[in-house]
Amino acid sequence: VRIGLLFGGRSGEHEVSICSAQAIAKALSTPPNTEKYEVLPIYIQKDGIWQPPDIAHQVLASGTPLEANGEGNLWQFPPQVADVEVWFPILHGPNGEDGTIQGLLTLMQVPCVGSGVLGSAMAMDKIAMKQVFDQVGLAQVKHKGLSRAQVWSNPCVFPKLCDQIEETLGYPCFVKPANLGSSVGIAKVRSRSELETALDSAASYDRRIIVEAGVVAREVECAVLGNDNPKASVVGEISYTSDFYDYETKYTEGRATLSIPAPLPDSVSRQIQEMALQAFAAVDAAGLSRVDFFYVEATGEVLINEVNTLPGFTATSMYPQLWAATGVPFPQLVDQLIELAQE
Ligand code: ADP
Ligand code: DAL
Ligand code: MG
Repeated sequence: VRIGLLFGGRSGEHEVSICSAQAIAKALSTPPNTEKYEVLPIYIQKDGIWQPPDIAHQVLASGTPLEANGEGNLWQFPPQVADVEVWFPILHGPNGEDGTIQGLLTLMQVPCVGSGVLGSAMAMDKIAMKQVFDQVGLAQVKHKGLSRAQVWSNPCVFPKLCDQIEETLGYPCFVKPANLGSSVGIAKVRSRSELETALDSAASYDRRIIVEAGVVAREVECAVLGNDNPKASVVGEISYTSDFYDYETKYTEGRATLSIPAPLPDSVSRQIQEMALQAFAAVDAAGLSRVDFFYVEATGEVLINEVNTLPGFTATSMYPQLWAATGVPFPQLVDQLIELAQE
């Protein structure tokens, strides 16, 4: 089976995608996968231009993005695209994890690993995702969705908006562009002036902005694998010493520690697994997702944070490590995901 490994992308998580693709390409070249699969890597530059396997192989080998010079035709796909039998998009963030690529691949009528258009879009947008969680009764932090138009409104309206946020959410709160990942554009704010700056900055990233009440909690994650009858992995925990789990902490070696399985009471782990499966179904995810939670130890509460439909997929990332600890080693996990795409 020829696998179109699609990576890079027009996203702030382009570099993360290259790392994920390196790990998946390696897994596909590991026996017994080598006998079953042929990898056709296709690289999407930061400007959105698609590059064929020979160039994609070079990017995988060097681990460095290609300089995007804006030259090339956005609608001219490499001819090898026609040979792909199953797509494995490992694109993180906008223009890849959000349903856009999933729509294009659906139109190509070729099976695709992971969620479809609806699940991808729903889990990408933190406002839409939280509305769905509320609807199915999943506990989560207090939040407020805003539009760029509201943030950049008439200077008389903006202070009222900030008053409302202070009254309903308080400090510290988190200001986030609704459609990014890897903590890009997220600010933890503790005062009115920080709030004003953060809202303005988030509005420059996205038309949709979410503000959330900050919780003091442990961060725990659960991996889900499957389509209509998905399974939940053991639960893992992330610990770090920085202020929150920001981009630097996520991707600088040694800044974050993963504990797998997380040292939690059995009842809490089970609750997290159940909530992960509920959230996966609620957003209509398929194939894979990593579901992230806050565990407020003081009260015993488990709050859902988010579903990531294309989670980080390097050999040391949480998603594959959770499955390895649950009895599905990395090469087997990649094989199962491709099988699930063809169901
Ligand atoms: P991303 O999709 O970019 O991963 P998250 O919503 O998961 O964005 O936020 C990134 C990190 O910011 C979280 O892992 C956590 O450390 C911190 N964080 C986000 N929201 C909250 C919150 N409401 N309370 C406490 N910490 C938060
Ligand atoms: N958005 C990154 C890749 C993650 O959630 O793992
Ligand atoms: Mg997150």
